[in-house]
Amino acid sequence: MGIDYAERIPNNVELASDRTLQRALERWQPAFLSWWKEMGPTDFNAADVYLRTAISVDAKGWAHYDYVRMPDYRWGIFLAEPEPDRRVGFGDGFGSPVWQQVPGEHRSTLRRLIVTQGDTEPASVEQQRLLGHTAPSLYDLRNLFQVNVEEGRHLWAMVYLLHAYFGRDGREEAEELLVRHSGDADKPRILGTFNEPIRDWLSFFMFTFFTDRDGKFQLKSFAESSFDPLARTCRFMLTEEAHHMFVGDTGISRVTKRTLEVMDELGTDEPEAVRRAGAIDLPTIQRYLNFWFSSSLDLFGSEASSNAAAYFAQGIKGRPDEKKFDDHLAREATFALDVPADAGRVRQDHVPLRNAMNEVVRNAYVEDCARGLARWNKLIEASGHGFRFTLPSTRFRRTIGNWANVPTDPSGRPIARDEYDAKLPSWLPSDDDRAFVASLMHRVVEPGTMAAWIAPPDKGIKDRPVDYEYVRLA
Ligand SMILES: [Fe+2]
Ligand SMILES: [Fe+2]
Repeated sequence: MGIDYAERIPNNVELASDRTLQRALERWQPAFLSWWKEMGPTDFNAADVYLRTAISVDAKGWAHYDYVRMPDYRWGIFLAEPEPDRRVGFGDGFGSPVWQQVPGEHRSTLRRLIVTQGDTEPASVEQQRLLGHTAPSLYDLRNLFQVNVEEGRHLWAMVYLLHAYFGRDGREEAEELLVRHSGDADKPRILGTFNEPIRDWLSFFMFTFFTDRDGKFQLKSFAESSFDPLARTCRFMLTEEAHHMFVGDTGISRVTKRTLEVMDELGTDEPEAVRRAGAIDLPTIQRYLNFWFSSSLDLFGSEASSNAAAYFAQGIKGRPDEKKFDDHLAREATFALDVPADAGRVRQDHVPLRNAMNEVVRNAYVEDCARGLARWNKLIEASGHGFRFTLPSTRFRRTIGNWANVPTDPSGRPIARDEYDAKLPSWLPSDDDRAFVASLMHRVVEPGTMAAWIAPPDKGIKDRPVDYEYVRLA
């Protein structure tokens, strides 16, 4: 039976006139839907959710709001509008026309990068699949589902590239994206952070703040790619990604705000007292932050990387906002890296800038994270308390790169292994912390009502009030 493509799969890639692509997607779509029904937020398939759906790329169409059942969400395929006469923006081919097809010599590299990005999208849906049962409000439940369906669409976006530009091996990779699962012992997701369980909403907010933000920087790097369909795909994904980080940023703000209210009511910042009053003490929030930030840092790869140098030289993966740099060739420049030396000392290495591209991107990410912390700290400061959130050093608790398995404290100071082993549990969420946070996780379904551990948002979604019925549970 034929499919009305514009209706079922809203797109701006002329799907209706591309028979090969239609056939590939027709085969893949049922597998995607059964993956969603098995690995997605399965218990909420019958709920009507007030969701944003992209139905075109222009300002009006990309954010269409209505009640939708998630299995009926229209996972569309959208690329940002082409830039006329776009040129390669960095690397050895600087200034030559961008590629509308995959150059043979870059085929396997591009395929691997697209698969790695694509793998993270369904992974996060799997990680978050049970959170609906403990949502602190209907507003939050709706935001969770919005993030979930958009990560599903991001998977579609990567599968589109695989189907449209990589032939048979692209189709095989697209199938594999539904076979690996987060945390699966035999077929895990490709990147470490995407195999970490997300069991509570504090972790969810940390994940959307820190791990989705890694995604933002990866997408910004790919948005510079000379492979134009990839660049345009990622540019459009970034418009959706902004909401995911908003969910994390405001989520942590609201948790902090509620904690401060409780501290003021009690007249103490003593963690046990705050906990007894049903809020999450600030040091526990800091430990969750330490965990998710340090885990996400590894996603950028090694500080010095010959792969990163090759991606840059070849024009495949650039720096976020490449235009703001003066030197797009980066042939001569070097980059100073702190590396561990003997006896707990730190030495500086100078590596070719091209080899340090992962670190350049990671540093931009860290700066972006720090802006969020500054906002949360303003709340604490305004309420007159002395506590401040801090970002751990990029050396802390790394498993990839120069600092992999080097014991340091959260400030990045190298310390003895036994001191590290003894103190690490106090820097990360303990079993007791996790059990406490889990004990707060109860579903709240009355419109406008919030769980006691989180403040209400400043405003609702799309001009709706906070007490709007964002999810009509079946
Ligand atoms: Fe995504
Ligand atoms: Fe995301």
